Amino acid sequence: MPSLIEAVRAGGDPAELLACPVPESYRAVHLRRADEKLFGAEPDRDVRRTLHLGEVPMPELAPDEVLIAVMASAVNYNTVWSAMYRPVSTFRFLDRFARQGRWPARHGLDHQVVGSDAAGVVVRVGAAVRHWHPGDRVVVNPPYIDEQDPVAQQDGMLTGGMLAWGFETNFGAFGDFCVARATQLVRKPPHLSWEEAACNTLCLGTAYRMLISDRGARIKMGDVVLIWGAAGGLGSYAVQLVRQAGGTAVGVVGSPDKAELLQRLGCQMVVDRSSIGLGPEGEGGQVPWRALGSAIRKELGEDPHVVFEHVGRATFETSVNVVRRGGTVVTCGSSSGYQHSYDNRYLWMKLKRVIGSHGASAHEAWEATRLLSLGLVVPTLSTVYPLDRAAEATRSVQLNAHEGKVGLLGLATEEGQGIEDPVLRDRIGEQRLRLFRDHAATRPTRPDTPAPTSAAGR
Ligand SMILES: NC(=O)c1ccc[n+]([C@@H]2O[C@H](COP(=O)([O-])OP(=O)(O)OC[C@H]3O[C@@H](n4cnc5c(N)ncnc54)[C@H](OP(=O)(O)O)[C@@H]3O)[C@@H](O)[C@H]2O)c1
Repeated sequence: MPSLIEAVRAGGDPAELLACPVPESYRAVHLRRADEKLFGAEPDRDVRRTLHLGEVPMPELAPDEVLIAVMASAVNYNTVWSAMYRPVSTFRFLDRFARQGRWPARHGLDHQVVGSDAAGVVVRVGAAVRHWHPGDRVVVNPPYIDEQDPVAQQDGMLTGGMLAWGFETNFGAFGDFCVARATQLVRKPPHLSWEEAACNTLCLGTAYRMLISDRGARIKMGDVVLIWGAAGGLGSYAVQLVRQAGGTAVGVVGSPDKAELLQRLGCQMVVDRSSIGLGPEGEGGQVPWRALGSAIRKELGEDPHVVFEHVGRATFETSVNVVRRGGTVVTCGSSSGYQHSYDNRYLWMKLKRVIGSHGASAHEAWEATRLLSLGLVVPTLSTVYPLDRAAEATRSVQLNAHEGKVGLLGLATEEGQGIEDPVLRDRIGEQRLRLFRDHAATRPTRPDTPAPTSAAGR
C-alpha cells in the first residue's frame, strides 16, 4: 500500500487517500519554546536561528477540522514576527488558547508549526465537517474564527476568539501536513499551480477587506489610493484591487527596480521613497510629508482619498497628513513600530477617518479568491524555495530583500504542478501570471540575502 504522501502525489483519489493510514509524525518547520530567550538584546534577530526543520507528532483531528496534505505554502510577515519572538513569544498565544478546553489544549506544545498560507489536498475530515471531502483541492484562509459566537453571523473577524492560524495557533502551513478548521477552506483556483495558489489568501484577503469590503475603505471608481510598500505582499494586491475598482493607484517603493515592476503591474503613479527622504531602512526621523503630498498633487492634481497603511511608525503621520479632507487611512499593521504619533488636528479638523482592519472573513476570502479565478487579480509570487529552506525564505522577507510573495514547495515535487484548467490559464495570460517571477529572475541578489533557488527538480 502506498503512503498517504504517495497517494496525494499520485493524484489524490479519495478512496485511496482514505485507505492509507495517517502517519504518526510529519516533517515541519517549527519554533521551539526553548528558544524564547535565545536572542537576548541582539539587534539582528536572525530568523534562520529559530526556524527548525524536523519531525513533529501528528495531532488528533477535532470534529470541525480537516487534515490537509500541503502541496505548497507561502511566507508571511507574521512568521518573521513569531521567529523573532517579537513583540511577544507566540507560545503565549498557544498557552492562552490551550486553556480553552479539550481541543484547544492540543495547541499548548513546546513547538509551534508556523505558516499562515497553504494550498493542498484534504486527506481527512472531522466527524462534523459537512462541505469538504478527502481529495478536495483547497487554499486556507488564516482567520480561525469562533463560529459559535453570535457575532460570527455578522462578521467572523469580530468574534472574540478569532486567532491567526499558524501564528496564534499550532499546526500551521510549513509542514507536509497542516490542520485547519473547515470554515477556513476556499476552493483552489483551478488555473493556478500549487505554489501560485498558496501565496494569495492572507495578503489578498486582507487587502480586499481594507479596500473593497463594507468594513474597509469601500473605494469607488476614480478614488486616488496611496499604497505604502506597493511591491510587497499586501501592496502588490492592493495595487491590483485599486486598478480593478477603477481607482488610481499611487505606489510607494524602496528602489527604482521595484518602481519598474509596479509600472508593469499597472500602478499609475510610483514614488521612490528615497525621493521623499524616507530611506531604505526607514531612517530619517520625521518624514517630510509635504514633499510626498506635493508630488501627488503635481502629478494627479489632487490628494489621496485613501491611504493603505501597514508600515506604522515610520509613515503613519504622513498618511494622516496627506490623505484629503474627509479621506480615510486604513491600517492593518505596524512593521516599523506600533507606537505612532501624529498631530490630531490634521485628523479632526479635516474630518478624516482611521479604520483598523485585520485579515478577512470567510466570505471576504471567497470573494477575493474569486477575483483570481476571474483573472482580475494575479498572484504576485516572485520566488520559490523548497520547504527545507523555509528559514532562508523567511530571512529574505525579514531583510525586505523580496518582492511580492515568497513561496515554499511542500509535497509538490516541482513548480508548475496542480494546474487543472490550462484553458483559463491561457486566457488570463502566462506573462501576467509570471510577472513577479520573471522580474525576480532578472534582479541581482543582495549580498546579505539567501539566494532564492528554484525548488524545481529536487
Ligand atoms: N492584520 C493583518 O491582517 C495583516 C495581514 C497582512 C500583513 N500584515 C502586516 O502588514 C505588514 C506588511 O506585510 P506584507 O506582507 O506586505 O510585508 P512585506 O511583503 O514585507 O511588504 C512590506 C513593504 O513595506 C515597505 N516598507 C518596509 N519598511 C518601510 C518603511 N520604513 N517605510 C516605508 N515602507 C516600508 C517595503 O517596501 P519598499 O522597501 O519597497 O518601500 C515592503 O515591501 C506587516 O507588519 C504584517 O505583519 C497584517
